[in-house]
Amino acid sequence: MPTLLHISDLHRTAAPRLDNDELLAAIFSDAKRWEQEGIPHPDLIVVSGDLVQGTPIDHPNSDSEIASQYVEVAAFLQQLTDDLVGSDKSKVIIVPGNHDVHWGRSRRAMSPLKNCPDDIGVTAFEANSHTRWNWKECKAYEISDSNLYDLRFEHFRQFQTNFYTGLCVDPLSHGRDTVYVEYPTLGLVVVGFASWHGNDCFCHAGEIDPHALNLSQKLLQDSQAPTAISVWHHGVTGGPRSHDYMDARVVHRLIDFGFSLGLHGHHHYADAAPYELRLPNLNSMAVVGAGSLAVGDKGLPMGERRQFNIIVINPDDETVTIHVRAMSPAGVFTKSYRDDFGGNASITLPLPHSPARPRRPSKTRRLDEAMTAARQGQHERALELLPATSTAYAHVRRHIEIKALEGLDRIEELLNLLDPPQNQDEAVKIISLLIDDNRFDEASKRLHTMSTLIDQPLYRELCGVIEARKAIV
Ligand SMILES: [Fe+2]
Repeated sequence: MPTLLHISDLHRTAAPRLDNDELLAAIFSDAKRWEQEGIPHPDLIVVSGDLVQGTPIDHPNSDSEIASQYVEVAAFLQQLTDDLVGSDKSKVIIVPGNHDVHWGRSRRAMSPLKNCPDDIGVTAFEANSHTRWNWKECKAYEISDSNLYDLRFEHFRQFQTNFYTGLCVDPLSHGRDTVYVEYPTLGLVVVGFASWHGNDCFCHAGEIDPHALNLSQKLLQDSQAPTAISVWHHGVTGGPRSHDYMDARVVHRLIDFGFSLGLHGHHHYADAAPYELRLPNLNSMAVVGAGSLAVGDKGLPMGERRQFNIIVINPDDETVTIHVRAMSPAGVFTKSYRDDFGGNASITLPLPHSPARPRRPSKTRRLDEAMTAARQGQHERALELLPATSTAYAHVRRHIEIKALEGLDRIEELLNLLDPPQNQDEAVKIISLLIDDNRFDEASKRLHTMSTLIDQPLYRELCGVIEARKAIV
């Protein structure tokens, strides 16, 4: 089942500050634990923003400080990628958060206005407006240097470009604020959005650039993946005195485009809820928030700890299960029992197939595809397809797997699969493999243990072959 490691809000704050080694050791140690608990190994890593803490507006060395923060998080993500997804950066989706905005640059790009505009209450929070409001000074500002203002995103964008450099398919090829990757073998397409459109030192509202949002509809239309996942940073709920969240109506548009799972961060606590769009048929999206992986105690809401999610998608059951892992005061990640998950450490939400997406092939159809792939010598493809095929035809699956492993010369895996052999042909295959690998003593022993499965004349013939080959070598 497609499985995602969902981490968010990696920004480090003091008291206590975690370094990369502590954080990675705690995650990798927990990986053993969650696998023992039956949670699959992640296929992908999703990072939903706030990679660095950034600096206050008036920090004297903000550029060098922010650059060093990105060096630290880049090393962290590189190690995580190496260990969890085999160094394959196309399996890592990274979007920015509000902390990834350079506040000092945005402030220096603004000038105070002598006269406060009448409509400041509205324009101060509009992404494309040139006016902003500073509550601390109760003063209106104008964005007077648009070039410098645009550079408030530069550090993150440079980090992101560096991270993805060298991949065959560039996840950023559809624009700087859209990360797009298809995973055909998982049946997934993932689109990452920057929800920082219009964000700066005075405006913290979550918004996705409308161009990026509209583009995602086109991209999904051209994709054959049955399940579409969207990623952004800001939450979709907020209190009456806050404005640092994204309008939930954006979720409705994403549902309409065919996304059925939305992942975000920002709140610093795990959260999972279904959102619905009532069109002629009811479409819905599971919206999942991840807690903060790395902030200190003061950055955590009351009762929360450092956290991350492991998200398991079950397309056949049309469900998604969110497992929350949280860090103890000793620095150990483990399952986190949550009141809002009914006292459980995980919650399962519906993930109904979106009518805007192509249908996932049936399990039997997938078995047919695996069989065809094996017949055509596409052994890797056959092995990729097998886990998602019907278990009702176990002997066919076994036959395909044997043929594929044989084709790929993966001898040890083949020997493991054939142990114990289910018929004479398989027993003979084991002996042949061992003879070909010059493991004659092992072949003799195995032949002896499988004697009841093999006809006597054939048994004697195999004994002879082993002795003859042994004598030659
Ligand atoms: Fe945030």
